[in-house]
Amino acid sequence: SKELTFSIIKPDAVAAGNIGSILQMISDAGLKIKATKMIHMSREQAEGFYAVHKERPFFGELVDFMISGPVVVSVLEGENAIARYRELMGATNPEQAEEGTIRKKFATNIQNNAVHGSDAPETAAVEVAYFFSNIEMVG
Ligand code: CMP
Repeated sequence: SKELTFSIIKPDAVAAGNIGSILQMISDAGLKIKATKMIHMSREQAEGFYAVHKERPFFGELVDFMISGPVVVSVLEGENAIARYRELMGATNPEQAEEGTIRKKFATNIQNNAVHGSDAPETAAVEVAYFFSNIEMVG
């Protein structure tokens, strides 16, 4: 069924000049961009977004990385958008990412991995609402 998912083009990919290429890959994959904007997250905002990872050993470094520069947050829509975007992103660790995926092309390592995508409908709803209001989304 038609789903929404939430995407972040992370600071590594923004700094490397890959916003356009990644949005093109998203579009070519048939996912509709319902909303998009560039933001520079505060520490509080990044900590809140990644609250589920609070107890992980990499949490501090992950937050430092996510606030190291601007990111592009987007809402994507399509049939099975969550799974399709995860497939397009490739594995979290770019060493395990398939050819043709965003992370294979643009990720540096398991942390600086170019993009984020929601993992389930419940998290997608929370993540979209964390950064966007309904009036920011096109019909
Ligand atoms: P993301 O999909 O945004 O969700 C959590 C993020 O934590 C993940 O992408 C990576 O950027 C980062 N991450 C996950 N696992 C590790 C790890 N083992 N070491 C460092 N960073 C990680």
